[in-house]
Amino acid sequence: MIRRMFRFEHRTFLKHSMGLQGYEQPRGLKGCVTMSRLIVNGGRPLHGELQIQGAKNSALPILIATLLCQTPSVLHNCPDLSDVDASCSILKYLGCSVKKNGENIVVNPISADKYDIPDELMREMRSSIVFLGAICAKLGRARISFPGGCELGPRPIDLHLSSLRQLGVVIEEDHGWLNCHTNGRLRGTNIVLSFPSVGATENIMLASVTAKGTTTIVNAAREPEIVDLANFLIKCGAKIKGAGESVITIEGVDKIYGCEYTVIPDRIVAATYMAAAAITGGDLTLKGINVEHLNPVFPAFREAGCIVETSGNMLRISRIGKLYPVKNIRTMPYPGFPTDAQAPVMAMSTLACGTSVFIENIFENRYKHTSELRRLGANIKVEGKVAIVEGVKKLYGAPVEATDLRGGAALVVAALAAEGQTVVTGLRHIDRGYASIERDLQSVGADIHRV
Ligand code: UD1
Repeated sequence: MIRRMFRFEHRTFLKHSMGLQGYEQPRGLKGCVTMSRLIVNGGRPLHGELQIQGAKNSALPILIATLLCQTPSVLHNCPDLSDVDASCSILKYLGCSVKKNGENIVVNPISADKYDIPDELMREMRSSIVFLGAICAKLGRARISFPGGCELGPRPIDLHLSSLRQLGVVIEEDHGWLNCHTNGRLRGTNIVLSFPSVGATENIMLASVTAKGTTTIVNAAREPEIVDLANFLIKCGAKIKGAGESVITIEGVDKIYGCEYTVIPDRIVAATYMAAAAITGGDLTLKGINVEHLNPVFPAFREAGCIVETSGNMLRISRIGKLYPVKNIRTMPYPGFPTDAQAPVMAMSTLACGTSVFIENIFENRYKHTSELRRLGANIKVEGKVAIVEGVKKLYGAPVEATDLRGGAALVVAALAAEGQTVVTGLRHIDRGYASIERDLQSVGADIHRV
């Protein structure tokens, strides 16, 4: 409650101090929750059941997609996260009415007529670039600031821009801003991606659902979140075939109409809690998951000595014996091992009885958590895209700072098994992706609280 009040007061303060009364300031803004910290007293095995939240990486593009509809949409299972708030703030700024009630969000895009996104809002959420395709398709023009680099290293948008250009968007770069316009309706075309970028695939899908003619995306991303976005759009009246495969075909339609839709469960939150169960020698049941989406991570946990059993939309993970190393984790586009699960699984491997090897193939700067894990006593060496983890007998509590979302979650995973007290700061990163990390972990026996 106090945390929420603080967020509210801080947001109100920011709105007035920044002269941004026109829209609601998202809670993740720098400084908002930086004073919070998690206090973790490690060493308690986790036991019990957890319900898995909706997927952030699905909810965000689906929220953006509501902009394209002629009528309101009702979304369920949207996780209560600062990134979701940031998307809602952008939608409101653009002129949508957005009503959020817990995990349900109603978006009415009828009055949306603004085509720019203020720089403050662009910077708030990394995936805001995906608004570009939707705004251009809806309004025929857009002005957004160039998204900067981020905590994972430079995040280029060349694939997004070249794809949108192929669909007919004229894009001029102007001192950190992208000024875009279209000459009438966008035109479907054949787009070949040199890498199956998740964000670029989403941008193309959003730009092309109402384009004239047919768009084909070759080497499209195959992530479950792409399939979820396609399913939402199809329910709205879009004609999309092949989502989840390497070639997606989109036959443009004149209009799409809002619908009621439930976002898929978050496979990365599930993988994080699996790592927490494994490192503490616990026994957790995760409910409301999609087992198929987690297939890429199961081998790592089984290799680590865990028993993983699945049934319907539930899984049970337990570890009784030794924690074994994971020999070779290579992050790859889906259905490969997800880059987002690399850090939590690495945290797990710090206490394994041997050497684990990680190869990060998606982002060049995704090992920042390793220096913080070392503060807890982990033995990790990083050389370029390779990290070598020599398992240690014990981790010891220490002050650590989250510097990115999944790296932050990895610190919590390690802290749960460390001897003594760990204080985790930088929670604004963790709060971007985990709706209730301390409440979830408390409910299964962890000694963790936020101050
Ligand atoms: C990526 C992950 C996604 C994850 C998300 C959040 C992959 C393939 N994608 O999605 O699973 O949920 O981060 O952590 O694992 N790139 C370019 N030019 C572009 C776009 C991307 O070079 O225009 C490069 C990126 O620098 C990166 C790679 O392609 O090396 C993957 O990027 P992309 O899939 O677009 O990233 P996200 O959409 O953020």
